[in-house]
Amino acid sequence: MTYTITLIPGDGIGPEVCEATKRVIEAADVPVKWEVHEAGAAVAEKRGMTLPPEVLESIRRNKVALKGPIGTPIGKGFKSVNVTLRQELDLYANVRPVRSLPGVEPRFEGTDFHIVRENTEDLYAGLELMMMPGVAQGVKLITDRCSTRVCEYAFEYAQQQNRKRVTVVHKANIMKLTDGLFLECFRRVSAKYPAIEAAEIIVDACAMQMVKNANKLDVIVTQNLYGDILSDLGAGLVGGLGIVPGANIGKKEAVFEAVHGSAPDIAGRGIANPTALIQSGVMMLHHLGETDAADAITRAVTHVYQQGSVRTADLGGTATTTQFTDAVCKALEATKIAPLAK
Ligand code: NAI
Repeated sequence: MTYTITLIPGDGIGPEVCEATKRVIEAADVPVKWEVHEAGAAVAEKRGMTLPPEVLESIRRNKVALKGPIGTPIGKGFKSVNVTLRQELDLYANVRPVRSLPGVEPRFEGTDFHIVRENTEDLYAGLELMMMPGVAQGVKLITDRCSTRVCEYAFEYAQQQNRKRVTVVHKANIMKLTDGLFLECFRRVSAKYPAIEAAEIIVDACAMQMVKNANKLDVIVTQNLYGDILSDLGAGLVGGLGIVPGANIGKKEAVFEAVHGSAPDIAGRGIANPTALIQSGVMMLHHLGETDAADAITRAVTHVYQQGSVRTADLGGTATTTQFTDAVCKALEATKIAPLAK
């Protein structure tokens, strides 16, 4: 069976890391027909729109997409394409596993926790207005429906991944109604999963806990803004943004993308670390049921990191994106002859 998958190369380093990921998936012998669509700044210049309708149509048709990062202008300009995609397709759960890799020194040995971030509302709903010159207002939108479904997703995910605890991260001591509602939904959902411990932590204390002892974390469920910030903090704990993958999951569609952005500071230089998107590709393969290929890629990436000689600049090495990708593809070829250590 050949999969048809939407591929959005995106901006900045996006096309470079997408090309790397495509190569690795193809090297794992997964038959894919890629439907390539542009979105973001590049297409805005040509067509005056950042998210042409055929991008959404393609994802709706194929159900699965792999996406490079898309830049968003700061303080002015077009609305974030990333946020629009998540809202339009109702990709309500953003899953970001934060795991250390062999040979990449994490802050804490064996860091391995997962962030499940609500992906469609909160302060990212885009409800902002200028009330008068010098006074701006933003609405924090939290609903029972979206809070409940993301908490349910987090517990289901914890169950699937054999995790012991789900921790809700909130600020309900101050935002009693909005965060209070999220917390209430979490408590209601947690009662349906007695085998999984339910824990609660205030977001500022969570940030401290992550930096002091990330090993205590298991699965986190939180709102959009807190999840966005904490996942970059998580990336910093395990070696940086070049490593941490992500999945935007909806009831019908799923879009897989790294946590990192378009990295304009290194774009076009061929030095981006493709690991985060390759790992997002692994999440995509698991989603498609291509478990053997997903595991083979994980072992190949792990092998390259264990060997230690091929590293991109963000991790102190000198390898280019292509050289790193070559090494992963070579390790994958080797798995076809003799399995690499698990
Ligand atoms: P960024 O994640 O693009 O870069 C932050 C730092 O991490 C930079 O120094 C960059 O070089 C480095 N970095 C990121 N990914 C890397 C990789 N794969 N390999 C090596 N180094 C890497 O964050 P920044 O600069 O704040 O955002 C740039 C643009 O990306 C903005 O327009 C932002 O809106 C957008 N963005 C898009 C996202 C998406 O499409 N999902 C997510 C986050 C940001």
